[in-house]
Amino acid sequence: MSGERKSSWRGEAEGLANRYAVASGVAVTFLLFGLIVVPALLRERRAPLPAPSDQPAAASVGWLDQAEAPASQGKDLPPVDPATVLTANAKLLARGEALFKQNCTSCHGDSGRGDGPAVATLNPKPRNFTQPDKWTRGFRVTDIFTTVTTGSKGTGMAPFDFILPADRMALVHYVRSLGAFDHGAEDPAAIAALANQFRSQGVHIPNRIPVSLAIKKMVQEQASVPPLKLPADDDKSEAAELLRRVIADPAVAARTVAATANRGNLAALARAWTAGVPGNGFSTALTGLHLEEWHALAATLLGADVPEVPSLDGGAP
Ligand code: HEC
Repeated sequence: MSGERKSSWRGEAEGLANRYAVASGVAVTFLLFGLIVVPALLRERRAPLPAPSDQPAAASVGWLDQAEAPASQGKDLPPVDPATVLTANAKLLARGEALFKQNCTSCHGDSGRGDGPAVATLNPKPRNFTQPDKWTRGFRVTDIFTTVTTGSKGTGMAPFDFILPADRMALVHYVRSLGAFDHGAEDPAAIAALANQFRSQGVHIPNRIPVSLAIKKMVQEQASVPPLKLPADDDKSEAAELLRRVIADPAVAARTVAATANRGNLAALARAWTAGVPGNGFSTALTGLHLEEWHALAATLLGADVPEVPSLDGGAP
């Protein structure tokens, strides 16, 4: 009778734990998707870019193609010679056009008139780059560089700071080339500041690993801890009964046990495991354990690490 009640209760806790595990699995999947797959897809989607081989030596490393092999060692790109990027030339314009087609036309339209397929969803709408009216953020070189780098808060215009600075300059010159009007004189101080930025700051590119490798590593990490062994059903000892009561998911609980820091402090351990219920593989029964039960549990799961005379009050938070 009471066994039956217990087992249905356990079933409920297990169901809860399973749902929680599924939910956190989904969350991790989404996170991975956002962090790894989406940038990879974005890189993939881009059309081939003009070969950077004939760039001036000082600038050539600044033209690193973001669509290159997915596994790459991180590196520090040296600063770019401002002379190669501050004023428009044919190479910059060709590069800018290719980048514009990949990153901008969905909103700004093929010729920059603000009539891309996505405009229906945009409020405010993007400007028409072919004429001088209604620009709100300025069309000097330094203005456009700032807009492309930082975006326009609260609008569809996102920051494109993932595009290398020299490539952002290529975009700036291409955007300006779309309008035949006079774009006015540059502010010498702003140009000097931008030149200084190029001259003094390199770009750090972090290590990248392919998605398949990242997934493989995660699976390995997850799989490296074997599930906890639950006692046999006919084991009616108190210790066995306790384990059956508190372990909801032996595989997940095993990882919790393996990751437990501060193993010699029963109070800290009790707080940590209880706070993680039920996502950490333990059932809500943890919250009702007596001191002796905690001691028995820790001794069973952590072995000799547990102190002989534990106190539930003395631990550090
Ligand atoms: C998702 C849609 C979208 C994409 C993609 C997009 N933009 Fe924009 N862009 C906008 C919107 C909307 C505005 C208007 C923002 C505002 O009103 O502040 C804007 C504004 C701008 C402006 C400022 C115009 C002004 O009024 O001063 C520039 C320059 C610009 N975009 C360049 C680019 C470039 C270059 C790219 C590609 C790297 C790009 N945009 C990609 C939506 C987009």
